[in-house]
Amino acid sequence: MHSRAFTTSPLRLDGVPIARPHPGACRHNSRTGKHCRGAGIVARAGVSEVLSQIADGVLAIPPTAFGAVGVMGLIGAALFVADPEKRRTAQTSSAGGDEKEAVKGYFNSVGFERWNKIYGTTDEISSVQKDIREGHAVTVDKVLKWIREDGSVQGISICDAGCGTGSLSIPLALQGADVYGSDISKAMADEAARRYQEQSRAEGSGQRAAPRFEAQDLESLTGSYNTVCCIDVLIHYPPDKMAAMVKHLASLAEGRLILSFAPSTPALLLLKRIGEFFPKGSKATRAYLHKEGAVEAALNEAGWKVTKREMTSTRFYYSKLFQAAPASL
Ligand SMILES: C[S@@+](CC[C@H](N)C(=O)[O-])C[C@H]1O[C@@H](n2cnc3c(N)ncnc32)[C@H](O)[C@@H]1O
Repeated sequence: MHSRAFTTSPLRLDGVPIARPHPGACRHNSRTGKHCRGAGIVARAGVSEVLSQIADGVLAIPPTAFGAVGVMGLIGAALFVADPEKRRTAQTSSAGGDEKEAVKGYFNSVGFERWNKIYGTTDEISSVQKDIREGHAVTVDKVLKWIREDGSVQGISICDAGCGTGSLSIPLALQGADVYGSDISKAMADEAARRYQEQSRAEGSGQRAAPRFEAQDLESLTGSYNTVCCIDVLIHYPPDKMAAMVKHLASLAEGRLILSFAPSTPALLLLKRIGEFFPKGSKATRAYLHKEGAVEAALNEAGWKVTKREMTSTRFYYSKLFQAAPASL
């Protein structure tokens, strides 16, 4: 990974290169519910690839796609009567019946290979993966913008829970934040540390502390941080465990919690079900959608309130972003 690891162009935030959306990346209008493009995507990208991406925990395809490939509706209807639970159980049992172990194994092996490329700059990715890269970059950009809106990050403690390859941790650390990034996957955490070193060298000298990256799951996190971020990780938590995890993350944060999740909508539920029916051999993770109201209720129960919210959607990437603060503030 070279110094442009988190940029597709030299957009900078406070002098630090940051992820930037592709000019064509669609921003979902949460008010109108419209997308800037979408029709015909299944035909263009290849059905099996699209579906396997959906099964991989990336939720996409606006409803307009169904109009483009009418047969998808029929397939979807048929799949509603097909229960993917058997396959899920088989996947989990290959990891000793422990779903978290399955996720860990995946992100330490084929999942690492896959997502390291998506979160990198290599051109050797499919058009679907490129779209996901662009969508994710939009989300990261929004988080960085929100944090910047609240003031300087210099010296503030930030926990990036489920940090992946460091897409968020690294620009924050380069801006002077005191960053602790952790991930259930050692391969991911190690790659984040490697990328930081590389990017920090490219940035040149400057007074900043290197972020700490560790292999640790969300449940084991302790401590207290000014800000806790958990981006695109809740997709690995079933709805009945989501609220407890949101409360746990809130308990670690003093002033700000920023998290994202794949929103549960009828269209995405259908697409998810279709995707589950067409797994590639390497897929070993389930993808869980969460109702926006349920995530907000979990925050409220923890004594927090949502202060900012945004939706990012491209053709193959859907992510709802919340910023929350203690209700007492
Ligand atoms: C889609 S990636 C997002 C990575 C990063 N947050 C980002 O936005 O660039 C999901 C990450 O969550 C991590 N993850 C999944 N379950 C986890 C858990 N229980 N504890 C910690 N990390 C987890 C995976 O290893 C993976 O790196």
